[in-house]
Amino acid sequence: MIRIVEVGPRDGLQNEGTPIPTSEKLAFIERLYRAGLREIEATSWVSPKWVPQLGDAESLWPGLPEGPLYSALVPNAKGLERALALGVERIALFSAASDAFTQRNINMTVDQSLDAFGEVARVFRESTPLGWIRGYVSTAFECPYAGRIEPAKTIWVAERLLELGVDEVSLGDTIGVAAPGEVRALAKLALVVAPLEKWAWHFHDTRGTAIANVSAALDLGFRAFDSSAGGLGGCPYAPGAGGNVATEDLVYFLERSGMPTGVDLESLAQASLPILSLLGSAPRSKAQMAVLATRSTQ
Ligand code: HMG
Ligand code: MG
Repeated sequence: MIRIVEVGPRDGLQNEGTPIPTSEKLAFIERLYRAGLREIEATSWVSPKWVPQLGDAESLWPGLPEGPLYSALVPNAKGLERALALGVERIALFSAASDAFTQRNINMTVDQSLDAFGEVARVFRESTPLGWIRGYVSTAFECPYAGRIEPAKTIWVAERLLELGVDEVSLGDTIGVAAPGEVRALAKLALVVAPLEKWAWHFHDTRGTAIANVSAALDLGFRAFDSSAGGLGGCPYAPGAGGNVATEDLVYFLERSGMPTGVDLESLAQASLPILSLLGSAPRSKAQMAVLATRSTQ
């Protein structure tokens, strides 16, 4: 079975300047759940000064509809304290393969972030023995500040995260540059250090290569992919980062390839529309646009 981790409410919104009311975020998440998504990254326990859009995490979390598995980003001990105060059971730690990126994103070097996350993971495990931890490696292929990244560097950071006890690592093409050959090269190194089920892929679709990259990873047996409804997304600390691969495009591609997702594309195509409207944006997902266009001609 394919796992889709919907990151729209977090990655999709974090870069948007127009404040989205908490009630609209909750309604968005409810629609994502009703469409069939079962793993949702709902928000971040980051500094509201750095990411104002997600400054409502405390009021959002208790209102989340029951059903999906929810996770949220934790950048440091303070973020963990906030998450634990609300009984959060799934957290995501986020480092990168480039010091230049982590410095701008979380004000730490990669090594400092790994030290800090080691302690965060330890405290989380102690208080939440059945909890789940994801580790992100951003800039897995290229950094917007330091340029191309050696695959061995990305895997080195992933291995450190696995050593400190994360349950899975999501490899992030933060600025959406990779092509399938690069995915295959990184994937082969990844499988040397951990089995398939330890890996997820997080492709931004800045240059339209994300579905080709998903296809390359699928061919190698990987089964977990992050995506964002409506193709929303970007990182405030990665200039030029476009949205994540749209969940609609991913679901269409998987279903059409004979891989069931449990997601209803018709409902999903509607899910992001109120948010897009609040942001004054048109849909960016081709599959979403196709579904909406077909409906309007019926
Ligand atoms: P800092 O300024 O170095 O933090 O930021 P500090 O420890 O010096 O503290 C400064 C102030 O922030 C203090 O408050 C702290 O209490 C407060 P003051 O005394 O000034 O009133 N503070 C916090 N408040 C709330 N929650 C916290 C927290 N920590 C400190 N957790 C920090 C360091 C990590 C906080 C900051 O850099 C930050 O929040 N960064 C987050 C950036 C972010 O969210 N980036 C986007 C997500 S990553 C991404 O998109 C990539 C991904 O999608 C994968 C991919 O695409 O590759 C995951
Ligand atoms: Mg991202």
